[in-house]
Amino acid sequence: MTKQTQQKLVVANWKMHGSLKQNEALLTDFIENLSILNHTQVVVCAPYPYLAQLQSLLQHTNIAWGAQNVAKNEVGAFTGEVSAAMLKDFGASYVIIGHSERATAYCESDENIATKFVQAQKHGITPILCVGETLIEREAGVMGMVVSKQLDTIINTHGATVFAGAVISYEPIWAIGTGLAATPEQAKSMHLFIRNKISNLNADAANHLKILYGGSVNPQNAVQLFVVPNIDGGLIGKCSLNAQVFEAICLAVENSAQ
Ligand code: PGA
Repeated sequence: MTKQTQQKLVVANWKMHGSLKQNEALLTDFIENLSILNHTQVVVCAPYPYLAQLQSLLQHTNIAWGAQNVAKNEVGAFTGEVSAAMLKDFGASYVIIGHSERATAYCESDENIATKFVQAQKHGITPILCVGETLIEREAGVMGMVVSKQLDTIINTHGATVFAGAVISYEPIWAIGTGLAATPEQAKSMHLFIRNKISNLNADAANHLKILYGGSVNPQNAVQLFVVPNIDGGLIGKCSLNAQVFEAICLAVENSAQ
């Protein structure tokens, strides 16, 4: 199944980078140069302390903002955690969930990730669920099984309906921060696999689901990647920290939508 064309999405994942000064310079540039986009929603996901800055600089622009993680609990004695309601207080409309850098470094289980996914939705925040395989898993040819299992934890506990309006980002772990992006063919087959898996369970949810590609996207490979069917945009790490480079990627996505 290939979904109907809808607005594309580009998410800047700043990871643990930035300062008030650097962010202001980047955001000012984004605001100036990305206001021309008609078919692409841009989202900036910054570290928690900068949410207030994002809100104040972006609130009257066409750029949305979000966080890179959220607590699975509603409220309570959870030192160091940040709830979905708190993100909402700062106008966040997206949150990255289950990024492999967190999943490996902080032992996030698929169960926790599933809870965070619905917790975000409960507060009107769009979850961006990261899925993807390691290099060993790809070489063993089991990438479909791996991604399927990551999705199953959510499907088995909450049903496929929760994917309506949500975002899945296919991020092969071997491609993140390595400079080695998936080829358009590799991305094409995994994106189709994901869309079909959800579609077989709930066609409407699959049709209202965005599937992003993430992992070493740059302005050059963006041109080939974003014309691939079922790639609805990208999650951009390193290249979102340079205004000109990020804007070139956004323009490639915008052009692929026309
Ligand atoms: P990268 O990061 O673009 O630096 O590879 C992507 C990601 O972590 O989602």
